[in-house]
Amino acid sequence: MKNDIYRKVKARRILSFNEVNCDIFIKLSEDKYVAIIRANSLYDSSIIVKYMSKGVEYFYVNKDEYIKFSENYYSNAHLALYSDCICNQEKIELLNSIHELVTEHISNIGIDKSVIEMIDKVVSSSIDIVKKDEGLFDLLSSMINAKDYLVEHSMILVYLSCAIALKMGWSSNLTLKKLALAGMLHDLEITNPVLAIIHDCEKQKIDNIIDSEDRDIIHKHTLCTAEKIHCMKNYASDVYKLILEHHENPEGNGFPGGISSLEISSLSALLILTEDFVSKIYFSPIGKQKKEDLSELIKYFKTRYSKGNYQKPLEGLLLYLQSILKEK
Ligand SMILES: [Fe+2]
Ligand SMILES: [Fe+2]
Repeated sequence: MKNDIYRKVKARRILSFNEVNCDIFIKLSEDKYVAIIRANSLYDSSIIVKYMSKGVEYFYVNKDEYIKFSENYYSNAHLALYSDCICNQEKIELLNSIHELVTEHISNIGIDKSVIEMIDKVVSSSIDIVKKDEGLFDLLSSMINAKDYLVEHSMILVYLSCAIALKMGWSSNLTLKKLALAGMLHDLEITNPVLAIIHDCEKQKIDNIIDSEDRDIIHKHTLCTAEKIHCMKNYASDVYKLILEHHENPEGNGFPGGISSLEISSLSALLILTEDFVSKIYFSPIGKQKKEDLSELIKYFKTRYSKGNYQKPLEGLLLYLQSILKEK
């Protein structure tokens, strides 16, 4: 089987640089793959754009060269992150692309030393961005473009959960790292973007999904993802719980445990509330009329989350919203 010889690579990631260290192929049919870029030769990004405009979403690299490709891509992205003239918007875009690389690497190879290094870099760099703040919310709002819900909503969850934690005084690096790691990887086991949007933004539709395999993926992704990252580092048990509980809710009828608002941990409550906020703003970004946009949202969050262990994260969210309203 030819498709066992190659590994998938998201086409738009190849746009980030003008050189790759291995041949890049396109798939013409199940058995036919053709090289379009040769290793270590400079290429023009218009070639990539041309294929993408024809609907090509993925390119392929030889299975045996995937790790070499992935590590080289990461080291280029890492170098770019530390360049002097890079602004926050470019940093956020680079971190999104490393997030994509992480997801792809885990699906192609699994969790190994090099992917753990990439994850650590995304986590620490995003915490640095949150600590500097500098109009982060406006920047995130302007960058929501619904191109890749899985990456974008996960990374917005990283930034906003850490920003709200800072407002609550939960500023230890370990706490921020747990939130960032859980936010980044919480939906790792959902690869279908349509399912990802339904399970976060249109929850009432979950039970109406006809395909039972898809329903299963949604109901099991919290446990499957938590299990997958269980081997990582010494803070994995807390992160395990955060990921396992990210679909619990203040009504106590979430999944998998139906945990009540009094039993949920405060850190899980913060992640759950923030993800709800992200899903609310993702398709209706908050524009210049922030006050008007936010008043309905504030009413919704106060009504839903003024209970049990959600109370403190709610106060954090309200403090955060107050601070962005003060920004010009
Ligand atoms: Fe999610
Ligand atoms: Fe999820």
